[in-house]
Amino acid sequence: MELFFSDKKPVGRSDKEQRLKQKAKVLWMTGLSGSGKTTIGLALEKELCKREFLVMLFDGDLVRTGINKNLKFSMEDRKENIRRIAEVNKLFVNCGIVTINCFISPTNEIRTMAKNIIGKDDFLEVFISAPLEICETRDVKGIYAKARKGEIPEFTGISSPFDIPPNPDLVLKTDRMSVEESVQCALDFILPKITFQK
Ligand code: ADX
Repeated sequence: MELFFSDKKPVGRSDKEQRLKQKAKVLWMTGLSGSGKTTIGLALEKELCKREFLVMLFDGDLVRTGINKNLKFSMEDRKENIRRIAEVNKLFVNCGIVTINCFISPTNEIRTMAKNIIGKDDFLEVFISAPLEICETRDVKGIYAKARKGEIPEFTGISSPFDIPPNPDLVLKTDRMSVEESVQCALDFILPKITFQK
């Protein structure tokens, strides 16, 4: 009798996708602080769970209290933040899991790096678009007020750059759409891409 472990071939991504009855993809939401990434991400995760998809949500504020707690907001640290989380995304995708990411990921260089690590076929870039003035008025965390007083150095949109993504796969203008509309739009975009076909 052949021992079961004599077969060294690893269980592949498609076996796992078959087991989960879904196609794995990475939804990468980029945008200013306060643009709505987390709000949309959480609601979208809920909607996908209702439809029985296995989803993992990664959020900058949370990731930065755990695996990336040694990082700050210099461009170098932001790049390392995104490099690590992109590598983590690659592991999840190879396990058949759909991921939703909420990171400012402020520059074209940083987002291109994430796309290259994850692979262009799995990386879906969503620009959560809202003008700085709107994000600043929302100021959910009171963080813009602090940044304006100079209490937070290198703050995105104020003292650190944000590049408008030149070619996103989807744009959600959260200053013109309700949360429900944005989530519906994201759902319509992602569902056909993650739905399993035998
Ligand atoms: S990223 O630039 O490295 O992609 P990330 O998405 O992880 O940023 O974290 C952004 C969150 O960190 C913001 O929503 C905000 O709550 C907090 N934050 C603290 N300091 C800064 C800063 N200097 N610039 C932007 N966000 C900051």
